Amino acid sequence: MAKPNAFYAQSGGVTAVINASACGLIETARKHKDKINKVYAGRNGIIGALTEDLIDTSKESKSAIAALRHTPAGAFGSCRHKLKSIEESRAEYERLIEVFKAHNIRYFFYNGGGDSQDTSHKISQIAVALNYPITCVGIPKTVDNDLPITDNCPGFGSVAKYVAVSIREAAFDVASMAKTSTKVFVLEVMGRHAGWIAAAGGLACEKEGDAPHIILFPEIVFDETKFLKRVEACVKKYGYCAIVVAEGVRNAAGTFLAEAGVKDAFGHAQLGGVAPVIAKLCKSKLGYKYHWAVADYLQRSARHIASKIDVEQAYALGKAAVKLAIKGNNAVMPTIVRKSNTPYRWGIGVANLADVANVEKMMPRSYISRNGFGITETCRQYLQPLIVGEDYPPYKKGLPQYVELKNTPVKKKLKTKFELTGRT
Ligand code: F6P
Repeated sequence: MAKPNAFYAQSGGVTAVINASACGLIETARKHKDKINKVYAGRNGIIGALTEDLIDTSKESKSAIAALRHTPAGAFGSCRHKLKSIEESRAEYERLIEVFKAHNIRYFFYNGGGDSQDTSHKISQIAVALNYPITCVGIPKTVDNDLPITDNCPGFGSVAKYVAVSIREAAFDVASMAKTSTKVFVLEVMGRHAGWIAAAGGLACEKEGDAPHIILFPEIVFDETKFLKRVEACVKKYGYCAIVVAEGVRNAAGTFLAEAGVKDAFGHAQLGGVAPVIAKLCKSKLGYKYHWAVADYLQRSARHIASKIDVEQAYALGKAAVKLAIKGNNAVMPTIVRKSNTPYRWGIGVANLADVANVEKMMPRSYISRNGFGITETCRQYLQPLIVGEDYPPYKKGLPQYVELKNTPVKKKLKTKFELTGRT
């Protein structure tokens, strides 16, 4: 029998280091030619499998694959496409198995967050139901850091570093101008329903008076009166107030302070735009001049200031996924296990996809200061090691040099075309 191929795809919001996982996976698979013939990547995630749009990664040179390690975003394209339950969407699952069969794909690797791990889990279930043996391994990824079991998620350390660095730098700027100009600066960060990224801003505050002076978490209900009192107190004491606000902050009624009015394929509201809401509030109620910034895609694509630990972990998880798969571990996801804080030591563990799928890990209350506007020492100890070290990409003419793959398509074998039913 011909040696089996592997399918690898990137899913959900991309990160500065998801390609480092791809690099770890492809380089490791290439070392196990006895077990894995070729790695086929899905163009735009699972959609590539459904539409038989596969990319032959064996056509990429060794140096191009190596360069993925320092290239941000998703080199093969990512997607937000929800595979519904097997009962609701049987045709999609049958199509996946049909494509896998046609291309002798016996390993399925899916690199994503909670929703994506759910997809991997469902594929492992249907493979059993349809009697097609395929080994499914999820690879964790999400800037939101909200996957359970794993100590942290690849992508988060880099976004955390970007946010901590940015609020520190912007605060230096505001502090210089505050006497006669801007008094309030608001930085909006991602994270959806979890406050991990916002919390990371708190790493910049190392002594009394350092920015950020206020962090607004999705886990804490926004209390306007308490917030304004604190802004005023900071401006009086420090001359200015630097704020980090999570995109997912809600009021007492449970409504997001800012929601773009759009929902994605998973039913998640598209968030964004809370920074101007907060800044304008400070102006209208307290009269302070403000500036605000929405870090948006800048934060999750900022490979130039990526965390070295994050890059190493992303690579290690891609590598571990292959090792797990060739040893026959099915329906699992490699995880990061923290062994100690000082010195920071970590290793690789394993979780069952069934325990990871669709679970969101929020910030524990013990990580948020009593007044609800900052982080605790325990939180700092958790976050600190994740942003340590720099791993600069190569620069040429002042610009980072990122790889753009050839992404050569694999010749289609099926006659039938597939119409996508899920919203993308
Ligand atoms: O899931 C990661 C994330 O970056 C969230 O923090 C953010 O709310 C969302 O993706 C944005 O998604 P999209 O790029 O699809 O609008």
